[in-house]
Amino acid sequence: MNDTRLLALFEEAGGVFLSGEELSGKLGISRTAVWKQIERLRRQGYRFEAVPRRGYRLIARPEKLDVARILRTLQTEWLGRSIKYLEQVDSTNTLAHQLVAKGEAQGTLIVAEEQLSGRGRMGRSWHSPAGKGIWMSFILRPDIPLLFTPQLTLLTAVAVCRAIRAVGSAEAGIKWPNDILIGGRKVCGILLETSAEEDRLLHVVAGIGVSVNLTEDDYPPELRSIATSLLIETGRRVSREELLCRILQEWESLFSLYRAEGFSPVRTLWETLSVTLHRPVRSVTPQGVIEGTALALDESGALIVQTADGQPHKLYSGVVEFG
Ligand code: BTN
Repeated sequence: MNDTRLLALFEEAGGVFLSGEELSGKLGISRTAVWKQIERLRRQGYRFEAVPRRGYRLIARPEKLDVARILRTLQTEWLGRSIKYLEQVDSTNTLAHQLVAKGEAQGTLIVAEEQLSGRGRMGRSWHSPAGKGIWMSFILRPDIPLLFTPQLTLLTAVAVCRAIRAVGSAEAGIKWPNDILIGGRKVCGILLETSAEEDRLLHVVAGIGVSVNLTEDDYPPELRSIATSLLIETGRRVSREELLCRILQEWESLFSLYRAEGFSPVRTLWETLSVTLHRPVRSVTPQGVIEGTALALDESGALIVQTADGQPHKLYSGVVEFG
């Protein structure tokens, strides 16, 4: 259904109330159809005031990312200096891979207002409504051994967690390997995808989804107990542009540190920001279920879990649940 005619009527009205009856007459659709269009626009970030017997009034349009302003604010040397912005995309990660195949340079950022088929880890989907979050991917061609890619995942989690803390959510923490949680609910997910030839890393697409200004109503009921947003946690709207710039700045400077000093300083930062360590955890691995206490990261980035018999076990990928 095309919402442009409805929006045009609200534009013409210039902030004056329009009744459901009037709208239905002008558009030649039922009042229920009008209400459904208004609900759809609300989900896209339009805000309407609804008053019984007076109707609806448009009070705010969705806030759009301003690429020119991002480029003026961004203090990075190479990361995000070229930005591809889209209103809508299936998945920024998928588009990034397509651009890589056409030779797109390292550092290019793809960012969208809305993803129609946002992808999560383990084949899950990622809820990415219009104008409410940061749905972005950047292209990397890092000169590191393939074996070290999990370290980039952990580095990305540190960068995003630091950026989220800097814009006001001091309680944000990392759940191994790279979920960012606030109060036990997930506020950000990271999906790093690589392509390799034999044991040589060719490129990496780093996909980051931060739920910034979603309200509880923006989530489907099944996500409400496990997902949250910065708005829900802080009670105030956060500038997506400011947070996006901070994430890229943190990422680029952490990556320089990593290139200069190796994984050790990143590991220390990850451990400091972790909400996983020193807690009982459970993970289903190809070798069976591991249950124990998360102790630390090893030098490669694996999570060391000590089981009841005192034995340390290393988790290299997958998910952990808190016991
Ligand atoms: C997860 O926690 O399961 C990872 C979620 C990753 C979501 C981001 S949003 C931008 C990028 N594009 C995608 O399709 N996925 C990632």
